Amino acid sequence: MATEPTSPDTLASEPPLILLAGATGALGLLIAHHLRRRGATVRALVRPGKSNTAEADSLRLQGCELVEVDYQDTAALTQACTGATCVVSALSGLRDVIVDTQTRLLEAAVAAGVPRFIPSDYSADFTRLPEGSNRNFDFRREFRRRLDKAPIQATSILNGMFMDLLKGQAPIILPGPRRVVYWGSADQPLDFTTMVDTADFTAAAALDPSTPRYLRVAGEVATIRDLQADASAISKQKYKLLRAGSLGVLAGMIKVTRFLVPAKDEVFPPWQGMQYLHNMLSGQAKLPEPLDNARYPDIRWTTVQELLAVK
Ligand SMILES: NC(=O)c1ccc[n+]([C@@H]2O[C@H](COP(=O)([O-])OP(=O)(O)OC[C@H]3O[C@@H](n4cnc5c(N)ncnc54)[C@H](OP(=O)(O)O)[C@@H]3O)[C@@H](O)[C@H]2O)c1
Repeated sequence: MATEPTSPDTLASEPPLILLAGATGALGLLIAHHLRRRGATVRALVRPGKSNTAEADSLRLQGCELVEVDYQDTAALTQACTGATCVVSALSGLRDVIVDTQTRLLEAAVAAGVPRFIPSDYSADFTRLPEGSNRNFDFRREFRRRLDKAPIQATSILNGMFMDLLKGQAPIILPGPRRVVYWGSADQPLDFTTMVDTADFTAAAALDPSTPRYLRVAGEVATIRDLQADASAISKQKYKLLRAGSLGVLAGMIKVTRFLVPAKDEVFPPWQGMQYLHNMLSGQAKLPEPLDNARYPDIRWTTVQELLAVK
């Protein structure tokens, strides 16, 4: 299979039609923006009754065509996929979404003769992780088994952790006590990419007919020690490292938290976030070199320092 990007000059003169599922989500809206900026025609799927939301308005303002669709309705999904050159999924959810809904979307894409499919992966490298080490990654591998059997060209975008999480949700850089918290080794390289850069790369990949099965990118590969230096440099105050324990301790904390606060119906309960951290800090979900950052040379990757500098 060819893996070199196709020059925009060789693309058909008609703007390619991209079918975007999960377009109303945080990442989906950004992908829609970058697809439009790159000249694509975007057909955005919205759930029934969701055509009047702020997100739907934003998609319309960007020039996307909105299609209300019931994801249980395979015929309607197939109709929506008709004419697309690529289906991009930015759906988020548990097994019913990542496996079941994406499977219906995949079947519709195949039935409509769409040549390419980008699943909602956008994550660390889950391909080599042991089963059970991360619930949400298990769903992605389950869907991957179906995707790899389907007669369609699939491309997964793997980008590590959304760098934006370092400014809030991920309890790693703590501005209050000025600590960088970690388990295991402070020298383990970790992959980070902003949501905007992930969306821009995904849009470029959606418009590139010659993508391989996996594209791996990282805005920055940084260790815990690098994060300490970045946070200190940007705040002009010294951050210290706080080693909370070994990776075995973190694994134990995951078990206990999962027992005490199962929150099975939440996509990101606290123990799920801890599973992501364990996968990254153990190096098991590290993106292998070489990365594909240079594939679309117009993309300039945001660094951790640049992200932290934004108020
Ligand atoms: N690497 C990382 O650090 C990282 C971090 C966060 C997310 N991600 C990944 O990025 C991707 C997008 O996440 P996000 O944060 O953009 O999610 P989000 O903001 O929650 O958006 C989810 C999208 O999926 C749609 N959706 C949810 N349940 C659905 C269902 N049952 N049927 C049909 N549509 C449904 C939502 O539609 P409505 O608007 O109608 O609800 C919305 O468009 C996911 O794969 C997620 O795991 C990666």
